[in-house]
Amino acid sequence: MRVFLVTGAGVSAESGLGTFRDKDGTGIWTRFDPMKLATPEAFARNPQEVHAFYNARRRNLIKAKPNAAHFALARLETALAERAGNLTLVTQNIDDLHERAGSERVIHMHGELLKAHCTACEVVNPWRTDLGLRERCAACGRTGTLRPHVVWFGEMPFQIGEIYAALNEADLFVAIGTSSSVYPAAGFVYEARALGIRTCEINLEPSDNAEQFDERRYGLASEAVPTWVDELLTSM
Ligand code: OAD
Repeated sequence: MRVFLVTGAGVSAESGLGTFRDKDGTGIWTRFDPMKLATPEAFARNPQEVHAFYNARRRNLIKAKPNAAHFALARLETALAERAGNLTLVTQNIDDLHERAGSERVIHMHGELLKAHCTACEVVNPWRTDLGLRERCAACGRTGTLRPHVVWFGEMPFQIGEIYAALNEADLFVAIGTSSSVYPAAGFVYEARALGIRTCEINLEPSDNAEQFDERRYGLASEAVPTWVDELLTSM
């Protein structure tokens, strides 16, 4: 079986990383204005403010640990490979918790917080400390040219061709911990349906696209995801 998964902030919520738009009003984009922090224009206008926002998130990420949902998805990757299947794990998350749980192949369509991109030489550097205007690119040696390696509003997500190619070959599409409100990821379920692929949603509550899914499971990711993985592997 070829399984295509897209994960969102809900999968990392129980690891202490915030979500963006939870209904209780605690989401990151309720407390902070994305137009001031997550656009190329905002970075050009006020790079210090944008760096400060991502620096705080990077520090938080380094302290965080993967949860049972991340570990279950890593287990699923191994189990599918052993059964001549495969898992395509696409995440909208910029954290590295899937990798730290053991997932081997993760497509970060919105980039990675622990990397910095040099806007002068285009090299992407691993980055674990605060970023600012004085930091130097390890490749070209320039200062003031590094930005977080994340996709901002108005920018193209990464690896989109590879993502749609994998979706086209999948037998099952699953969305986990995402409100399904940001495109193109929110559109994957429509593509899956058009291709006749079975669809499943696992989330705390019905997402914006809930009615598009053949199967819906609601609960905490740390409980609902391991249960789903166990049931899927037993059914194969
Ligand atoms: P959202 O914050 O929009 O949605 C998170 C979803 O996770 C919500 O539907 C919650 O109900 C659910 N959730 C919360 N806690 C959960 C838990 N413990 N278990 C299971 N589900 C839980 O986050 P995303 O859909 O990931 O993009 O947001 C998509 C994109 O919007 C992000 O990648 C980011 C943001 O703007 C960029 O920054 C480019």
